[in-house]
Amino acid sequence: MTEQQKNTWKMGKRDMVFLAIITAVVVILVLGSTDRKTIPVPNDETHRNTTARAQCMICHDAAGVRPQPATHTKMERCFLCHTQPEGWAGAPQ
Ligand code: HEC
Ligand code: HEC
Repeated sequence: MTEQQKNTWKMGKRDMVFLAIITAVVVILVLGSTDRKTIPVPNDETHRNTTARAQCMICHDAAGVRPQPATHTKMERCFLCHTQPEGWAGAPQ
């Protein structure tokens, strides 16, 4: 390749296809991320005033009224993933 050829590189068809694919992937990832938000904690009397995990689990363990899915994480801090209801009574987490 001569010096002249190097300096006169132009975008070819394959470069355009490559660019189009990259753009599509980015767009899909950005749009897809909005669908993957965790289910929020309902904003009701019960959920605003429950401030201990043990209390949550009375209703949400396997024997509760609304069990977590069997595959659910065993992580302690529910609000890391589930949005806190507005006006939650507990300390900010
Ligand atoms: C007195 C029982 C009770 C307690 C305590 C309780 N929940 Fe719930 N929770 C429910 C019920 C029943 C539902 C489903 C009906 C609804 O939308 O209110 C629910 C729904 C949810 C949902 C939404 C899932 C869905 O099916 O829509 C999340 C997330 C959740 N609770 C998290 C929590 C967390 C975190 C705590 C502790 C801060 C907690 N809950 C305390 C009874 C309870
Ligand atoms: C690491 C993130 C994470 C943490 C921490 C977490 N959850 Fe979840 N939870 C999820 C996801 C994601 C789902 C959606 C269902 C699934 O795929 O497991 C879910 C689903 C649920 C559901 C069922 C919702 C339904 O409609 O069936 C309940 C109830 C729930 N979580 C309660 C809790 C409670 C209570 C805690 C705290 C002890 C907690 N979660 C902590 C991520 C989390």
